Amino acid sequence: MESTRSRLAHRLAEAGQSHLVQFWDELTPEQQAEMTSDLEAMDFQEINKFFRSAMEVSHSSKQEKMDARMEPVPREVLGSVTRDRDCLKDWEEKGLRCISQSSVAVLLLAGGQGTRLGVSYPKGMYDVGLPSHKTLFQIQAERILRLQQLAEQRHGAKCCIPWYIMTSGRTMESTKTFFSRHSYFGLCKDNVIFFQQGMLPAMDYNGKIILESKNKLAMAPDGNGGLYRALGTQGIVEDMDRRGVKFIHVYCVDNILVKVADPAFVGFCVQKGGDCGAKVVEKTNPTEAVGVVCKVDGHYQVVEYSEITLATAEKRSADGRLMFNAGNVANHFFTLAFLRDIVQTFEPQLQHHVAQKKILYVDTQGRLIKPDKPNGIKMEKFVFDIFQFAKAFVVYEVLREDEFSALKNADSQDGKDTPTTVKHALMSLHHRWVLNAAGHFIDENGTRVPAIPSLKDGTDLPIKCEISPLVSYGGEGLEELVSGREFRPTLVIDESGAHELVKNGL
Ligand code: UD1
Repeated sequence: MESTRSRLAHRLAEAGQSHLVQFWDELTPEQQAEMTSDLEAMDFQEINKFFRSAMEVSHSSKQEKMDARMEPVPREVLGSVTRDRDCLKDWEEKGLRCISQSSVAVLLLAGGQGTRLGVSYPKGMYDVGLPSHKTLFQIQAERILRLQQLAEQRHGAKCCIPWYIMTSGRTMESTKTFFSRHSYFGLCKDNVIFFQQGMLPAMDYNGKIILESKNKLAMAPDGNGGLYRALGTQGIVEDMDRRGVKFIHVYCVDNILVKVADPAFVGFCVQKGGDCGAKVVEKTNPTEAVGVVCKVDGHYQVVEYSEITLATAEKRSADGRLMFNAGNVANHFFTLAFLRDIVQTFEPQLQHHVAQKKILYVDTQGRLIKPDKPNGIKMEKFVFDIFQFAKAFVVYEVLREDEFSALKNADSQDGKDTPTTVKHALMSLHHRWVLNAAGHFIDENGTRVPAIPSLKDGTDLPIKCEISPLVSYGGEGLEELVSGREFRPTLVIDESGAHELVKNGL
């Protein structure tokens, strides 16, 4: 024990982190044992190196410089659901074929802490208040099930879309328990693969690791780009290889409209010979908080909204659209070969981004302090930082109202990206699906509601309508259920048919 302790003390001193054990004598033997094992597992030299290079990059990347180096995505690498309508069927067909051959996997990034939403559990477990009360995880699981079914029907072969779920130290146990409690939402347990990303300590501006209590370091997940290290350390690339996966759709947990394993997106990327692709929506408001896909110094990357000046964000092309309008919706396509290269060769070259944060800490007297201004940094890699290594990068533009509505914040007045806005986005999409399948809605007096309902009392409430993903993945297959029929909201369509809910519990 003594030798373990002195070895540890030596390592800490060497790394300039001896303050971490300043309260050692006040800890219980259990706390000491736990802290020893936490500290033993850490590579302080590596952490110090990350800190130095992250700070260096963050000091040198001045906004003005970034702005001057940016170029928009060229048309030849771009596919668009609106501008290339003629190709859509082909792309979808291609993607479905790949799915039917079990060569497409989906990978969910779910290691975030949901700080802005303010819940203590993983965001995927959130119930946004749909009539069915399905959580984000359940909606995604059911879309996978339906897509497998569609591919099987089209190609007559049983297939599987493995679902890889990246969690972090903070979300792993609760995520796994949730899936097991819900019997994997009908998916085969063996095809839902959980793995864990790494954590890094928060540091003060002098490179000292911050203590959040006398016996605990302030730790946070290492960003969604922690994916690439985790893919290697957790044997995920090998697992994909073993299963015959060739293409991977990576996405974030918070987008309620996400088309998991979207056949058209996969088909487009494969047809174009892309090794790496990004799905985007048109950014129309210069101050919208989304990153934009563009080229910097000739290499593709996402420039976050915080990294450019307003002047650049407001620049317009000759057609009047924003020049940097490829809004990143954090949906990416990778070939397995590309991911393997990243894991084996390029991952160590990815730089951490620095986020300045207010981090709770204990002072030298052992008092817990809640700072009122940023007192340190968290270091994160980003999932899109590997675009620069692509040999054939492609971009796929979709409609925001069909595919992107993210849950970021808690409900508040005039809030953006809240449970209410995402619920409305889903119901509004499903309302359009019903209308497109020749169904109609009527009000409480039996009068038909116009396709574009007028705003009642100044509110902008959508028609209350929810369609189970088990019935329809993207609006298909609804005619026989709704054509020529009239429905009084709330309308719910599930495997047992179309029902009007008597009580509007929304
Ligand atoms: C992200 C994108 C941004 C895009 C926006 C669209 C990144 C770095 N930024 O921003 O370009 O415009 O979505 O909604 O992708 N996560 C982890 N591990 C972590 C941190 C996050 O798995 O350590 C996961 C989260 O669970 C979530 C996703 O990554 O599913 C996005 O994380 P978040 O921090 O919410 O990204 P945004 O800032 O919203």
